[in-house]
Amino acid sequence: MNQNTYKAWFEKHRPRTINELIFPTVLNGEGKDPQYIKTIFEKFYNQEFIQGNVLSYGPAGRGKTSLNKIMQAKIIKHPNDIFILGRKTEDVDKLNAWLQARSVKSNQKLVVIEEIDRLSQQAQTILKDGPLEKYQDKISFLATTNNAQKLDPALLTRFNYRLFFDELDFNGAFGRSKYILETENIKYDEELLKQFVQLNIKRGLRELISNLEINSVTGEFIFDPKKALNLTGNEDYIIQTIVYLLAYLNNLDKEKVNDINKNSKSDSHFNQYYEYILKLIKQDLLLNYDYIYKNIIENDSIDFGTKSIFVDDYQQLDIVKMKNFHFLSTFSKAMDLIYKRKDL
Ligand SMILES: Nc1ncnc2c1ncn2[C@@H]1O[C@H](COP(=O)(O)OP(=O)(O)O)[C@@H](O)[C@H]1O
Ligand SMILES: [Mg+2]
Repeated sequence: MNQNTYKAWFEKHRPRTINELIFPTVLNGEGKDPQYIKTIFEKFYNQEFIQGNVLSYGPAGRGKTSLNKIMQAKIIKHPNDIFILGRKTEDVDKLNAWLQARSVKSNQKLVVIEEIDRLSQQAQTILKDGPLEKYQDKISFLATTNNAQKLDPALLTRFNYRLFFDELDFNGAFGRSKYILETENIKYDEELLKQFVQLNIKRGLRELISNLEINSVTGEFIFDPKKALNLTGNEDYIIQTIVYLLAYLNNLDKEKVNDINKNSKSDSHFNQYYEYILKLIKQDLLLNYDYIYKNIIENDSIDFGTKSIFVDDYQQLDIVKMKNFHFLSTFSKAMDLIYKRKDL
């Protein structure tokens, strides 16, 4: 038989041990060092016994299923010692009988429930009413969901460990990416990889690894951060210049600011920069205004009042047609504020 051996990287490199998994940073609603959470699960792993029920929640591709598979592979020594609870109604009846049975060979029996929010109401009620606590000395329940908000709080509290897999630890994701590239024999530049991970980590690790694979087809990891952000290359210059001009205006006296507001040519230093921005805004049709607004808003040297003007107009950005004029109008509002403030 001609077996196709190709496997997508994210599947091929699914973590198989505790050390390969990047641990989340929130346990039972509280921010924690991922290393701390890892220590707890390392102990469960080594003793082959999970002391409690575990709910992993958060968006797709963050490692929820991987954690369950790692624990399962270590603890389960006989197929009868694990119960995969699915959505069929008869599953619940089977579960009841299974719960009574002794473990065949494993230190502990496991019930695995993927997407617990999608179980029938009946199944959720049964779970809420007893088994998660009743069998705690013999059975651990491992559940995952993308929609923890949908779960009944009474059911949620039956899980002693609620792990929120959301924003993953940067160093973990970077280390994992390096490991995958090295295992796959791909040449890469460390700095470039760092930028790539920074830009992709919010989308989850599955997405990140998929993109890593796409960007490595030639045997070398290639990545253009500007393209990834949808930038033309002029945005950073515009941001820096706007920030500079706002600071410049803040340091002038009222009279001067008024003159510039009326006619930018009245100050040749100001005008030189301003004209160049106007030129860029006219000729570069693909400027990423989203990026420009965001970076001006996040700039530390912008004061609160000016920031509010940019924030307000940023919210309109999606609906305005002429984004270039919208942006110039925001800047002019900011100049106006600087002028008015000089009255006080
Ligand atoms: N926390 C993580 N640590 C290491 N690899 C991860 C992690 N999260 C996701 N991955 C990668 O993404 C793939 C999908 O992860 P998975 O555990 O199925 O995500 P989830 O169940 O949260 O949707 C894994 O096979 C692995 O390659
Ligand atoms: Mg999953």
